[in-house]
Amino acid sequence: MTKRKLDSEILSKKFDELNRKNQESLLGGGEKRIEQQHARNKLTARERIHLLLDEDSFEELGKFVMHRSKDFGLDKEYYLGDGVVTGYGTINGRLVYVFSQDFTVFGGSLSETHAEKIVKVMELAMQNGAPLIGLNDSGGARIQEGVVSLGGYADIFYRNVMASGVIPQISAIMGPCAGGAVYSPAMTDFIFMVENTSFMFVTGPNVVKTVTHENVTAEELGGASAHSTKSGVTHFAAANEMECINQIKQLLSYMPQNCEEEAPRLDYTPSDEAREKLNSIIPDNPNQPYDMREVIEGIVDTDSFFEAHKNFAENIVVGFARIAGRSIGIVGNQPASLAGVLDIDSSVKGARFVRFCDCFNIPLLVLEDVPGFLPGTDQEWNAIITNGAKLLYAFSEATVPRVTVITRKAYGGAYDVMNSKHIGADLNYAWPTAEIAVMGAKGAAEIIFKREIAEAENPEAKLNEKVEEYTRKFANPYRAAHRGYIDEVIYPDQTREKLIRAFKMLENKVAKLPKKKHGNIPL
Ligand code: HXC
Repeated sequence: MTKRKLDSEILSKKFDELNRKNQESLLGGGEKRIEQQHARNKLTARERIHLLLDEDSFEELGKFVMHRSKDFGLDKEYYLGDGVVTGYGTINGRLVYVFSQDFTVFGGSLSETHAEKIVKVMELAMQNGAPLIGLNDSGGARIQEGVVSLGGYADIFYRNVMASGVIPQISAIMGPCAGGAVYSPAMTDFIFMVENTSFMFVTGPNVVKTVTHENVTAEELGGASAHSTKSGVTHFAAANEMECINQIKQLLSYMPQNCEEEAPRLDYTPSDEAREKLNSIIPDNPNQPYDMREVIEGIVDTDSFFEAHKNFAENIVVGFARIAGRSIGIVGNQPASLAGVLDIDSSVKGARFVRFCDCFNIPLLVLEDVPGFLPGTDQEWNAIITNGAKLLYAFSEATVPRVTVITRKAYGGAYDVMNSKHIGADLNYAWPTAEIAVMGAKGAAEIIFKREIAEAENPEAKLNEKVEEYTRKFANPYRAAHRGYIDEVIYPDQTREKLIRAFKMLENKVAKLPKKKHGNIPL
């Protein structure tokens, strides 16, 4: 039996009672509408809220709101709540605000009053400093209402921006999300999508066919898979709605309620923190890949790593974890994908994550093994300069505690970008295997000893000799350590202990940016 089928069977039993309540809030046809929603392999708006929030914690607001427009037959059909369930409740005892669109009412389309209900919870969330979670399942602007529904979207977009950096905003796409409607989730901090039942696009398959003559399905164009691997629009793709809701809960556990608070801490009793396993991850051959996730898991509290954006720009790994019970954000180059090189997508992915952590007081750990930026016309013509600068800017601007561990390569501009001391990192460690240089030894020797090699009796032997000389001088962490750019060269198995102490020491860090309206990050 498939997981999806199993879930829907469990749910159909579990929600009988809940659905009866749902029917009461609809004026007629409730049961049929619920059946239709289940037939689409989707839960109802209320079922989703029920699964998301702690038992009996939901307080609904605006249950009796109905639409105002009377055009195009809207004077004949009314539904209490007008296609969106809004209110507040708790997740693991912590306050959250939520809206959940009801596709069974005019396709979950957004009317003037539907928008007003969402705006109300957004304002409450901002004023009371708690996360906002939007469960999206909507055909977009209510076509019968015209400009007032467009205005309603703009009212929401504006509040998304005002709330950005004040409270965490999370969007789950659990059905259609098309046209301008995609811009509200796009301005929130994290987007979740459900495989096969949700999609997001600015223009749908029909318009695409007319304009570009491409034949593409809604799923191919804007499904969870497309957005979690190709565009990077979504940060998490779930196999079904239950998994999606569980992922949202897990993500929230790493976050504070708002920008004035710290993330919750779990109790932790220090014990023997040496992690022998870390000593054997780096291969002897410096060009051989390894999985940075193994390093992460070797360092952080057991099973605490929660990766975001897992299948997009895989040459950089980002995610949340805990170290001695404390929430941290991790950015790591990934030698197992494109040798861990920085390119456009990985720079943007890293930058966005760094800025989220900085907004919400989550300390940053950077694990560095980067051979440089990816060369090529594709990268240059698509603005690796501007996009790479985003990561540099994001790190430079971040005032949260910032610690770097160089595990192997730290070459060229990428050394500067990856949270170097020079751009404000608090503590920089290197493993003995670190190579900190302008470039790899072979490339360097070929450039600076070009004439000497060409004039040598045996150019190949000369090249090897020069590579060896450059390696001895630069392919190690000690030159940087002599300068103080590296605070300490540490053995891999000591890393966890060092980091526990480092983050504890940095707990009360105060760093202020120069007075300004706002910076001008290269967009
Ligand atoms: C009013 C809508 C609606 C809408 C769907 N419905 N979208 N009613 N306004 N935008 C209604 C349908 O008429 C139908 O009503 C019911 O919802 C279910 O829709 P179906 O089409 O039967 O469902 P399905 O086959 O699953 O298709 C879902 C859909 C499709 C892909 C979302 O309905 C669709 O393409 N809708 C239009 C999408 C759209 O173009 N929206 C405007 C985008 S522009 P009955 O009574 O038959 O059950 C936009 C601008 C935002 O949103 C501006 C921000 C700047």
